Amino acid sequence: GIPKFVKIVEVGPRDGLQNEKSAVPTHVKVELIKRLADAGLKVVEATSFVSPKWVPQLADSKDVMAGVRSLTGAQFPVLTPNLRGFEEAVAAGAREVAIFASASEAFSKKNINCSISDSLRRYEIVMEAAKRHGLPVRGYVSCVIACPDEGFIAPAKVAYVAKKLLDMGCYEVSLGDTIGAGTPGNVLPMLEAVMDVASTEKIAVHFHDTYGQALTNIFLALQMGINVVDSSVAGLGGCPYAKGATGNVATEDVLYMLEGLGVRTDVDIQKVLAAGVYICEQIGKQNTSKAAIAIKNK
Ligand code: HMG
Ligand code: MG
Repeated sequence: GIPKFVKIVEVGPRDGLQNEKSAVPTHVKVELIKRLADAGLKVVEATSFVSPKWVPQLADSKDVMAGVRSLTGAQFPVLTPNLRGFEEAVAAGAREVAIFASASEAFSKKNINCSISDSLRRYEIVMEAAKRHGLPVRGYVSCVIACPDEGFIAPAKVAYVAKKLLDMGCYEVSLGDTIGAGTPGNVLPMLEAVMDVASTEKIAVHFHDTYGQALTNIFLALQMGINVVDSSVAGLGGCPYAKGATGNVATEDVLYMLEGLGVRTDVDIQKVLAAGVYICEQIGKQNTSKAAIAIKNK
């Protein structure tokens, strides 16, 4: 049956903002993260310690962490592509990191400039450092359904990378439909393949909503027992290395559905709605959460 409790991993401040063309002021990012944590979200992905040449928007990661590191009651994981990023993240006060691999060779090259196997070797090094520091590490697999260059990806490839990340010590692996191409038709065999090699409690789903399929795919994942869902306030986002990919599923929409299903999240939807209004005003963007639009027009 459907899980009684779902953990939402809010990725708006990172995945949602990383693709924004004009620089979002650091204080706005910090305020957004504070509002999201205050809404009861226990995991708010805060930023990335990546090359500022690759993702200029997140060049202020150190300052963002300075603004949130003393907050309690939530985890603020940050993306780290290599040991350098990890060390800078720790120095900035990060207490959790995420490593991000891909099920597609072409996307791995585009996103982190190396092959899948090289990335896994690099992440082993990050993992060893994290273990020395006692920090939990989350793992991502990108392109779990399709890649902008390679087309549809075989579920076995996703399962292979997911297992590698869990075997090296990730406490959870998040399966990213980077370009939002999935439907229940191909998400089902992909999740089945991963569930053959990983226990359900360690699997999270990360759907971008490019084709409007994210909520349906999440509902399928819930029915399969998965109880960790990544989402982005106001549906912000897109991936800089996946042309045309739109934002993640909106946190407000996921919360509305979960409320309807009677699933507990311990998140205050009103506060998330307010955070969504805030960030959209600040960056001059349309709120793409259907629930936010509906509630505003009521
Ligand atoms: P590279 O060019 O191959 O690396 O980039 P390099 O080691 O040759 O270094 C190049 C330059 O970057 C050097 O500076 C390094 O010092 C610097 P230069 O000498 O040219 O001035 N550098 C760094 N600077 C800051 N922090 C670092 C760092 N490392 C090197 N950690 C690299 C390789 C991995 C660094 C680069 O490709 C990169 O930063 N990629 C990040 C891409 C990214 O953030 N993508 C978006 C996140 S993934 C995503 O959105 C998908 C997800 O949401 C799930 C889904 O939806 O599927 C997670
Ligand atoms: Mg993403």
